[in-house]
Amino acid sequence: MNETKAATASTPGTHAHTGMTTRHDTWWLAPLLVATGFTLFIVYATFRAFENNYYEIGSIISPFYSPKIDLPGWPFSPAILILWMPAGFRATCYYYRKAYYRAYFLTPPACGVSVWGSKSYTGERAFPFVLQNLHRYFFYLAVLVLTILWYDVFKSMLEPSFHFDLVTLIMTVNCVLLSGYTFGCHAYRHLAGGGLNCFSTNESTKQRFKVWEFVTKLNEHHMAWAWFSLFSVGFTDFYIRQVCAGVFPNPVFF
Ligand code: FES
Repeated sequence: MNETKAATASTPGTHAHTGMTTRHDTWWLAPLLVATGFTLFIVYATFRAFENNYYEIGSIISPFYSPKIDLPGWPFSPAILILWMPAGFRATCYYYRKAYYRAYFLTPPACGVSVWGSKSYTGERAFPFVLQNLHRYFFYLAVLVLTILWYDVFKSMLEPSFHFDLVTLIMTVNCVLLSGYTFGCHAYRHLAGGGLNCFSTNESTKQRFKVWEFVTKLNEHHMAWAWFSLFSVGFTDFYIRQVCAGVFPNPVFF
């Protein structure tokens, strides 16, 4: 590929046509898949958030509705009181930002491909994208929600007496994937290992190095964790919905 031409084509502020590039590979495939995946998930999650039905049976509760908040006088689905937290965490995620800036905003759609429109790039220093900096705070909320989802796993296992069924298995896998995504967060990696000049100063910094190493391992595959956990949380809700509606079975293993 002629890198000079490709760089010119993708320069913000120019009047290039969208998609102008000298690339000959299938550069459009990744943004297309991302846009399709996001759109399907958003449509499904919105439908489920407003459905306000088929989310709880016995000790099992859908991740879209957990924790269930009965706010007196709240006229809408209780899912809305919860979903803004994981939605905010994902929407401001460093990986997702790259993915949807390319897939939805086409700024640019891929490396070496011209941007959409001719406006100059303002980065994330002006409203509304300056709000992306809230990601580090959404991380704390995401950990809170994740803790509750793990609590739900144990609750579904222990009530009314100890057992293990298919829904509990699906919920467990979902929590593992969500944990891999959450604790591989770039903001958490900075929290674990940032602001230090040396990891071997004392026992505390040595422990932080171990945490940072673990977070780094997860972070190396952050994109995979992001997609698998997005799929799993949607699938977990879908399966629980079908069990609540009496459509799918929930076999007990032991
Ligand atoms: S950067 Fe992706 S979850 Fe924080």
